[in-house]
Amino acid sequence: MKLTVTSGAKYAAILGLGGYRPRRVVDNAEICTMIDSSDEWIRTRSGIIERRWASEDETIQMMSVAAARKALDRAGIEPGQVDTVIVSTVTHLYQTPAVATTIASELGSKSAAAFDISAACAGFCYGTAMADSFIRSGASKYVLIIGVERLTDMTNRSDRSTVFLFADGAGAAVIGPSDSPGIGPVVWGSDGDQAPLIQQTEPWDAALAWDTDSYRNTAGESNWPTLKMEGNPVFKWASYTMAKTAAEALDAAGVRPDELDVFAPHQANMRITDAMFRALKLPSRVVVARDIARQGNTSAASIPLAIEALLESGEARSGQTCLIIGFGAGLVYAGQVIVLP
Ligand SMILES: CC(C)(COP(=O)(O)OP(=O)(O)OC[C@H]1O[C@@H](n2cnc3c(N)ncnc32)[C@H](O)[C@@H]1OP(=O)(O)O)[C@@H](O)C(=O)NCCC(=O)NCCS
Repeated sequence: MKLTVTSGAKYAAILGLGGYRPRRVVDNAEICTMIDSSDEWIRTRSGIIERRWASEDETIQMMSVAAARKALDRAGIEPGQVDTVIVSTVTHLYQTPAVATTIASELGSKSAAAFDISAACAGFCYGTAMADSFIRSGASKYVLIIGVERLTDMTNRSDRSTVFLFADGAGAAVIGPSDSPGIGPVVWGSDGDQAPLIQQTEPWDAALAWDTDSYRNTAGESNWPTLKMEGNPVFKWASYTMAKTAAEALDAAGVRPDELDVFAPHQANMRITDAMFRALKLPSRVVVARDIARQGNTSAASIPLAIEALLESGEARSGQTCLIIGFGAGLVYAGQVIVLP
């Protein structure tokens, strides 16, 4: 039997991008009330001056919808035209349903295919690769990809290796058909041998100590899982191995380092960004995203938030080429060259 198969648009591109930054600004002085550290240490080791932490009402749903509305508006696409919603998050605390379904519903993308992915800090790049493939295969026409985290829900306030880094926020992109190539080939992968370097301290069931008579959780908050990280090996892996992946993404897109306009890596640590910039031998005129200074590390949200900041400040412009690369817990990684909306 012969099946009919679809094919879609020749090319896909990001049509619009938007972000949501939580209201509350937490500076290094406040962090130093939680851990034995200093403003100087945090600035020089990570590049972070302040970060945004979500308040109770700034939920995964709320931040995602706010970012998505901006992205849709800028793309000139109605919510009803979106046929696929992909949400990348590791901090949505409901196992099911996927938060993508309720986000699609609140936006008015009511019958859209909707699902969540777990690809940590590489999530925005994973989602962008999926959206590009879906559009070119004909499976989707307009895809909304959202990277959103409330990392502070899973951060131990007395952990010196994570509390000054992690933050909250959402970034969204509308991806659709295009007359010219707007998303280069993805270079992606994983290395599960290194999974213990960044992981949840305990499985969810460890947070619970069920009293079988009362069906009550008697563990209190003490067993609540958080994210733990061995910072230094992750730092080395990100600075050296990821620079090679970024170079492969440039090569796959046929863009020479001296032709690139913008470099927007995952905002993990300013020193990682600097090390990658040097390893890639990018010319000094290339605009580099340094959003981590004011926003902290927001995992899947960091790349779209950083790009939005560059577009809003005028440092980057629509039509420019931008190398993005995400890397994090898994370990997972993905990078590609995109054309800015
Ligand atoms: C977390 C990170 C900033 C730490 O920087 P680092 O240069 O690796 O620091 P180290 O862990 O080697 O510690 C160096 C020293 O600072 C101290 N230190 C660690 N945390 C500290 C803190 N918050 N404040 C002050 N001092 C601290 C250590 O005790 C150590 O002291 P010692 O030299 O006397 O033993 C860095 O490793 C990092 O950014 N890693 C990658 C994060 C990342 O990319 N995550 C993946 C994506 S989410």
